[in-house]
Amino acid sequence: SGERSKEVDYSSSQRGTRVRVFGRVHRERKQSQVLFVTLRDGHGYMQCVLTGNLAKTYDALTLTRETSMMITGEMWEVPPGAHAPNNRELHADYYEIIGKAPGGDDAITNKVQAQGDNQKLLDMRHLVLRGEKASAVMIVRDAVEHAFNVKYHELGYVKVAPPALVQTQVEGGATLFELPYYGEKAYLTQSSQLYLETALPFTGNCYCIEKSFRAEKSLTRRHLSEYTHVEAELDFISFEDLLSHLEELICGVLELVLGNPRTAAMVQDLNPKFQMPERPFKRMRYTDAIDWLVEHEIPNEDGQPHSFGDDIAEAAERKMTDTINRPIFLTHFPLEIKSFYMQLDPEDKRLTESVDCLMPTVGEIVGGSMRSYDYEELMAAYKREGIDPKEYYWYTDQRRYGTSPHGGYGLGLERFLAWLLDQHTVRDTCFYPRYMGRCRP
Ligand code: 4AD
Ligand code: MG
Repeated sequence: SGERSKEVDYSSSQRGTRVRVFGRVHRERKQSQVLFVTLRDGHGYMQCVLTGNLAKTYDALTLTRETSMMITGEMWEVPPGAHAPNNRELHADYYEIIGKAPGGDDAITNKVQAQGDNQKLLDMRHLVLRGEKASAVMIVRDAVEHAFNVKYHELGYVKVAPPALVQTQVEGGATLFELPYYGEKAYLTQSSQLYLETALPFTGNCYCIEKSFRAEKSLTRRHLSEYTHVEAELDFISFEDLLSHLEELICGVLELVLGNPRTAAMVQDLNPKFQMPERPFKRMRYTDAIDWLVEHEIPNEDGQPHSFGDDIAEAAERKMTDTINRPIFLTHFPLEIKSFYMQLDPEDKRLTESVDCLMPTVGEIVGGSMRSYDYEELMAAYKREGIDPKEYYWYTDQRRYGTSPHGGYGLGLERFLAWLLDQHTVRDTCFYPRYMGRCRP
């Protein structure tokens, strides 16, 4: 039984190949003398045709969706005018039921979805995931993560595995998950950036794909408590190098995913309007974005016109990105709305060499910057942000033992997928999403 459906060559045009397949009933349709069963095995869907006595047994007559079974028979091309996945069908001569299912599977048949009950859908996610769209998102997710690994290795990056349990914050104290750690205080990591920076001297350019954790106290379409963070750090670079690397990476990953016929078909199906972004991406400075928002009368969070120093909130950011309707590198944010480690803009010390990459429909999918690499500047930054440098000695040492101009970024995998697959919320791009109020299943 470990063979699964290996014998099946879905692309074979041969007629009469004998196969044995294992899977679950995705769909079944009874016609007078014939039972059509679409089996699903994670690699694809196969139409199986049961005729004669096979269609008349008690098991066949009471067959329910999600029942697992084994079927043997011959592969045939479907007759003209008939429809089956890949234009093949399996003419069964034997089958065995392995595990029955109760039927009435509302979650899988999208009935719950139609009722718009999102919480019920999430409670039933273990079954919802068996559906065509939800499972396609998971399969593309795997392909995207794989493509990041391939692309980084092509570019000569080394993957490292930073810890999830840490004693330092990266993106502010407000979203830290704290936990007891053998009598000490520890946190779930918000970002592996600081650790990646310490790898540069022995790996050169490096990356990781790890979970990050944020105690986000609001419910939005794009915030999770636990998400997959694709992070990289580049050594001896300029800010412009960082931006062109990001374009190369994002487009390279898309080319790999769209170059694979199976995942390309899934992207096409989930997001028919998707288009490969044009390079170079649009560059826009923070101050220009503020002007743009004022011009378009999009107010800030207090309902006032935007002004220098304002955070660009999710709604305003999305409006801008949707209107411009192409990827944007939003750069040079003011110091006070960004993190302690960011390199100041040498031209204007109120600003940082920072970048957010914004995509239509989602907004920010990447946050990155050049890093403050001068020892004194970093010490001043700790002080400015009220951070006790003691716990950061290992990070600070990076500046004492052969510092370098370097920079990096973090990309939220779920946001990347929400953009690529036109998903309304990042929750639908997770295997089992975690956000405020939900930690099950
Ligand atoms: O902008 P952020 O907070 O930047 C960092 O954490 C940097 N230290 C990363 C680095 O330079 N290595 O987060 C980076 C990205 C965001 O652009 C977003 O895509 C994603 O991580 N992200 C989240 N995704 C889902 N849920 C959340 N709560 C997220 N917070 C950030
Ligand atoms: Mg950010």
